Amino acid sequence: MNITIVGTGYVGLVTGTTLAELGNSVYCVDIDEKKVEGMKNGVVPIYEPNLEEMFHRNIQSQRLFFTTNLKEALDKSEVVYLALPTPPGEDGSADLSYVLGVASDIGDLMTEYKVIVNKSTVPVGTAEKVTEVISSRTDIAFDVVSNPEFLREGFAVEDSMNPARVVVGSSSEKAKEIMSKIYQPFTNTGIPIIFMDEKSSELTKYASNSFLAVKITFMNEIANYCEKVGADVDKVRLGMGSDDRIGHRFLFPGIGYGGSCFPKDVKALIKSGKQEDFNFQILEATENVNVAQKVILVSEIEKYFEGNLKGKKIAIWGLAFKANTDDIREASSLDNIDLLLKKGAEIIAYDLVAENNVRNIIGDQIQYAKTMYDALEGADALFIATEWPEFKNPNFELMAKKMKSKVIFDGRNMFPLEVPKQNGFYYKSIGRQTILN
Ligand code: UDX
Repeated sequence: MNITIVGTGYVGLVTGTTLAELGNSVYCVDIDEKKVEGMKNGVVPIYEPNLEEMFHRNIQSQRLFFTTNLKEALDKSEVVYLALPTPPGEDGSADLSYVLGVASDIGDLMTEYKVIVNKSTVPVGTAEKVTEVISSRTDIAFDVVSNPEFLREGFAVEDSMNPARVVVGSSSEKAKEIMSKIYQPFTNTGIPIIFMDEKSSELTKYASNSFLAVKITFMNEIANYCEKVGADVDKVRLGMGSDDRIGHRFLFPGIGYGGSCFPKDVKALIKSGKQEDFNFQILEATENVNVAQKVILVSEIEKYFEGNLKGKKIAIWGLAFKANTDDIREASSLDNIDLLLKKGAEIIAYDLVAENNVRNIIGDQIQYAKTMYDALEGADALFIATEWPEFKNPNFELMAKKMKSKVIFDGRNMFPLEVPKQNGFYYKSIGRQTILN
């Protein structure tokens, strides 16, 4: 099948490459000329494990093309995926101007039947809006389908080649047939394709992300309560997760959820609710708890240093919002850095891949270390903000040598409690006993 993808951001690029890998001819359209030129020359604009290989393979096989010319791509394709940004507006609601702008261009440019597929995370009712916009510009028949994307950063290729499910919202039999054909390689291997109406499909995406945000936040509250009563959240987590109605995943407490999806989607769903005079009480609570959870360790650091952080040197391990990505959007590290700086602390941070992104935002307000151990030179305390695998089994002897005092605040519960204990470290993690040195 010939497919156009409009927007070569994270979702667009991964979706386009995946669809090419499944044997389709894919025309990726973007307004950014420099980016398009780069991609034509084999430059992958984002980092994702295994993406580069798949990208090059499909360019070489002449199944993956790039252009700034929407008309040219449209003329070749029966199906057009929209993978455009839907950033939060000032009030938290999703800004649909990119999606509706492109819809209007498609209406002007199309010359025969098209299926327009919404891949972007868009509020309930967007398929209807896209339909209205296109039909205001053309009399040619078309269908609009909702087909949300569930991929995780760091696992984008894996998730899009092997999704847990494909959700398709459409009330048109013709469009459903076309979508079934596109996803046949998945259904052949047992991956379910779930058909529903457009609105339910649009809500499925928000409901899934919000549910996971609630799940994490629930565990964060349980962790905070564990500390009050002397229970161990790791044990509670294992006990709970073994019930397959609950499951082990997304039960890890820490310093809150971040990233480009959960915070934005929770906010947007709250806002959409308000527009219908509906209060998502559970999501409002989730958002408030998460804001506090992100910096929950700062008050512990303050307590440890008896209320005075002036001139205290804090090393931070990890800046990305989670491991395996350089993305720092809504990263807890940034909230902690901001607060610690305000309280007069000095910060030296280390992250193998996210340093440049942080530099671009806060520049030289903090120092940056080349290695995880360099960051510890003369540090009064170490703060772990991201669960990078390289922090999992560090050389505690070397750490002790480098640090001024053997103190760790761990926002990601990286070590079994006996490890810092045996090495004589003060160790404060989330929802577990504090180890005193
Ligand atoms: C998420 C969804 O998982 C994905 O399906 C959707 O398409 C986009 O949003 P992503 O933002 O890439 O993906 O990251 P994810 O791995 O889900 O983690 C989100 C945040 O939750 C991170 O800050 C992570 O550290 C945190 N988290 C996750 C926890 O604190 N505890 C957990 O147990 C799991």
